[in-house]
Amino acid sequence: MSLPIPVPLFDLSRLGTQVDEAVCEAALRVLRHRGYVLGAEVEAFESDLTAYLGGGYAVGTSSGTDAQLALLMAMGIGEGDAVISTPYTFFATAGCIHRTGAEILFCDIDLATFMMDPASLRALLSSFKKDTSGVLRSPKGNRIRLIVPIHLFGACCDMDGIDAVAAEFGIEILEDAAQILGAKYPSASGVKTAGLMAPTSYVSFYPSKNLGAAGDAGVALCLEADMAEKLRRIRNHGMEQRYYHKVVGGNFRIDAIQAAVLRAKLPFLDGWNATRRENATAYREAFTSAGLLERITLPSEPFASSGLRDHHIYHQYVIRIQTGERDAVMAHLMEQKIGCAIYYPVPLHLQECFASLGYKPGDFPASERAASESLALPIFPGLRRDEQLQVVEAIKQALN
Ligand SMILES: Cc1ncc(COP(=O)(O)O)c(C=O)c1O
Repeated sequence: MSLPIPVPLFDLSRLGTQVDEAVCEAALRVLRHRGYVLGAEVEAFESDLTAYLGGGYAVGTSSGTDAQLALLMAMGIGEGDAVISTPYTFFATAGCIHRTGAEILFCDIDLATFMMDPASLRALLSSFKKDTSGVLRSPKGNRIRLIVPIHLFGACCDMDGIDAVAAEFGIEILEDAAQILGAKYPSASGVKTAGLMAPTSYVSFYPSKNLGAAGDAGVALCLEADMAEKLRRIRNHGMEQRYYHKVVGGNFRIDAIQAAVLRAKLPFLDGWNATRRENATAYREAFTSAGLLERITLPSEPFASSGLRDHHIYHQYVIRIQTGERDAVMAHLMEQKIGCAIYYPVPLHLQECFASLGYKPGDFPASERAASESLALPIFPGLRRDEQLQVVEAIKQALN
C-alpha cells in the first residue's frame, strides 16, 4: 500500500521566492544597521500599517497579547473593574484581563459564527444592577468597564448588534482583531475596517497569522492621539525621557527586525487573503460534490451578500462535525498525514486556571458545543487544489 502524501495544516515555505527575498532583505538591513530597538524601522511599519488601514494610530508591540495588556493598562483597567468577553477563543484575551486584576465575565457565542452573540451580551448586561451612583456592577460588585468581542477565523463579529448593546448600557468596546487584519465589515452606517471599529483594538503577527512576523509581534491600534501617546509610553516601561518613568509600563516593544519583516510582507496581504477565499470556495465546491453537506457544517460567511471583497479573510477554515464523529475524523486525517487542529478544545470558563471563577459545564452551551465540534483544515496561501481534494476525500472516507 502506498504511503499517504502529507498535507500540512500550514506551510510558510509556500509564500514564494519574491516574499522570501523581501523578508530576507528586510532582516539583513536591520542586522547591518544594528538599530534593533524601536527607531525608524518601527515608525515606518506603523506608518505603513495605518496607511493600509486608512486611519488610526498604530503602536507596534512584542505580541498581540502584550498589545492587549498595554491597552488595558492604558485604560486603567484593574482591580474593582469587570470586562466581558467570550469563552470560545484563544486564551490570551481572558488571560490579559485576569492579569490586570479585573474580573473576567463571559457571555456566550453564536454557534453559527463562533463569535459574541449580541443577544447573550444583552442578557448578561441586563442581569447586572446599577449602584446608587448609576454605575453598572457585576454580582461581585465590580464596575463593568469594557466589552471585548473577538473576531475569530476571518469574519467580523456582528459589530452593529454588539455596538447597539454597548451603547444601550454605556460600555466601551475594545476589538480583539488578532486574527482579522485586512477584513472589512458592512455596517448599516457604512463600510468599516476591522481594527478601527472601536476606540481601541489590537492585532497579532504570530507567524501563522495572515500577516505573520518571523517570531512574535503585535500592534495596538487606537483612534485618538493621546491614547497612542500613552501606549508608546507603556510599551517602554512608562518612559518618555530615558530612565524617567511617568507611569508603570512594561517591555512591550516590537523588535525592529520584526517591524522590517512585517513591512516587507504587508503589500502581499490582500493577495494572500484573496487566495484564502479562493481556497474556501474550492472547499465548498468539493464538499458539495462529495455529498457531505448533511454531515458537516461549513464555515459561515455572514457578510458574503454585502458584496465587499474582504468580508472574510479565512484566517482559519473551521468546519463543524458532530461531537463523536469529529474526533474519529480527526484521527483519520492524522493517520493520513493531513494537518488539522482543534481551535479551541477547552472553552475558557472550563480552563483549570479559571476554576476559582466558579463556572461549570453547561454554563455556555454554544461555546462548549463549538469546542467539541470544530475542526480546522488547511487553508493557507500556496495550498494546492489536489491537496484540498485529498482533504475532502479523507473526510468522506472517515464519515462513511
Ligand atoms: C483571538 C486571539 N487573541 C489574542 C491572540 C494573542 O496574540 P499573540 O499570540 O500575538 O500574543 C491571538 C493569537 O494567537 C488570537 O488568536
